[in-house]
Amino acid sequence: MNYRFTILVLISIFLYFWRETMYQKMIISQIVAASLNNVIGVHNGLPWKMPNDTAYFKAKTLKHHIVMGRRNYEAEGKALPDRVNIVLTRNRAYQITDGIVVHQIEDAIAIAEKAGEKELFIVGGAKIYKLAMPFTNRIYLTRIHTEVDGDTFYPEPDWDKWKETSKIRHKKDQSNPFDYDFLVYERE
Ligand SMILES: NC(=O)c1ccc[n+]([C@@H]2O[C@H](COP(=O)([O-])OP(=O)(O)OC[C@H]3O[C@@H](n4cnc5c(N)ncnc54)[C@H](OP(=O)(O)O)[C@@H]3O)[C@@H](O)[C@H]2O)c1
Repeated sequence: MNYRFTILVLISIFLYFWRETMYQKMIISQIVAASLNNVIGVHNGLPWKMPNDTAYFKAKTLKHHIVMGRRNYEAEGKALPDRVNIVLTRNRAYQITDGIVVHQIEDAIAIAEKAGEKELFIVGGAKIYKLAMPFTNRIYLTRIHTEVDGDTFYPEPDWDKWKETSKIRHKKDQSNPFDYDFLVYERE
């Protein structure tokens, strides 16, 4: 009797964890670096060189599905390696050989979900951050402590509906010309 009971408990525990793992909802995250005045880009490029932020971006997004706008993709000039690159465009004739082209944000999300992705990263630019905001649960924001001129701005959400869950401050150094904070927000 005790033996059967133990087996039953073990099976229940196994099924519980199996269900938790199988049906874990995919997190949709935005990852962005913005100045104090919310600039994220200028002339279809970044307004700064901050290698530590580039390394942070890489560490977070590597091996994941990432979603970007056609302009951001072309600014990079090619797909980011070791990630599944999904590019959004309205142009039905647009083709690339190193990523997936979609015309709706919902299709990008569906592709990642179908592949069993645990965390999908929205990597910009501004148009795509805005488009994806209603679907987003997490934001990795690098706040660069400078005010710069630019032509592209982060479409910030209503921060009252978000909770800061992590903040790591860094001082400028020889390679990174501005102080910067790695911030993480979760939707409340
Ligand atoms: N600081 C950061 O963290 C960061 C991160 C990423 C990018 N950036 C900067 O942001 C700038 C680029 O941002 P951006 O806003 O100009 O361009 P973007 O968001 O990269 O791309 C815009 C393009 O996405 C497509 N698109 C937009 N809305 C769409 C929709 N509803 N359905 C289908 N496709 C849609 C359109 O492509 P088509 O015109 O082909 O239809 C549109 O021209 C650059 O300066 C870049 O360096 C900064």
